[in-house]
Amino acid sequence: MVESFHLKSLSEEDKLIVSKPFLSTEQIQQRIKELSAEISRDYEGKKLLSVGILRGAFMFFADLVRSIQVPMEVDFLNVSSYVKAETSGEIKIHTDLRENIRGKDILLIEDIVDTGLTLNYIKNMLLERQPASLRICAFLDKKPRRKADVALDYVGFEIPDEYIVGYGLDYDNKFRNLPYIAIFKKSL
Ligand code: IMP
Repeated sequence: MVESFHLKSLSEEDKLIVSKPFLSTEQIQQRIKELSAEISRDYEGKKLLSVGILRGAFMFFADLVRSIQVPMEVDFLNVSSYVKAETSGEIKIHTDLRENIRGKDILLIEDIVDTGLTLNYIKNMLLERQPASLRICAFLDKKPRRKADVALDYVGFEIPDEYIVGYGLDYDNKFRNLPYIAIFKKSL
């Protein structure tokens, strides 16, 4: 049982559900070091604009970009899936990018790729704006659930088909501030 202030105000049931890390803070930070070294090598001399997909990627984005050692600009897309996104992949853009991405090297930074429909939609939308290049970095890849064939250039961890929370990821906008990833076993 991991004791941390994050767990103190949770109900006994929620405490049990999220108290066991599936990926620990140490494992996450170690992987981020490896990913950022690779990204830093690949983007040397490029016009890097890192785009974080809100809300889920905020924590991964912050840790990753501070570890990347090439100059960059940052921007954010705030999106959510429509209820019918499972079939259509259509998403709602709450806040669009502020930057013009034409001619820039875009690194899309996402929390988790599940069906891949969200990322596919965003990728196609951004490609229409004619960036010089567009690559995708996903913290987690839930490969068994994939429906859209979207290529991932950098992946933190491949995970099984489980609903996970923590490190930015939520259930009903809760558990985002857990500093690790836990499997959320409640009946959804
Ligand atoms: P998609 O199915 O790849 O379109 O996933 C879209 C979004 O669903 C992700 O960006 C996450 O915000 C959310 N999501 C998918 N799986 C999980 C999960 O296991 N925990 C929390 N959020 C998830």
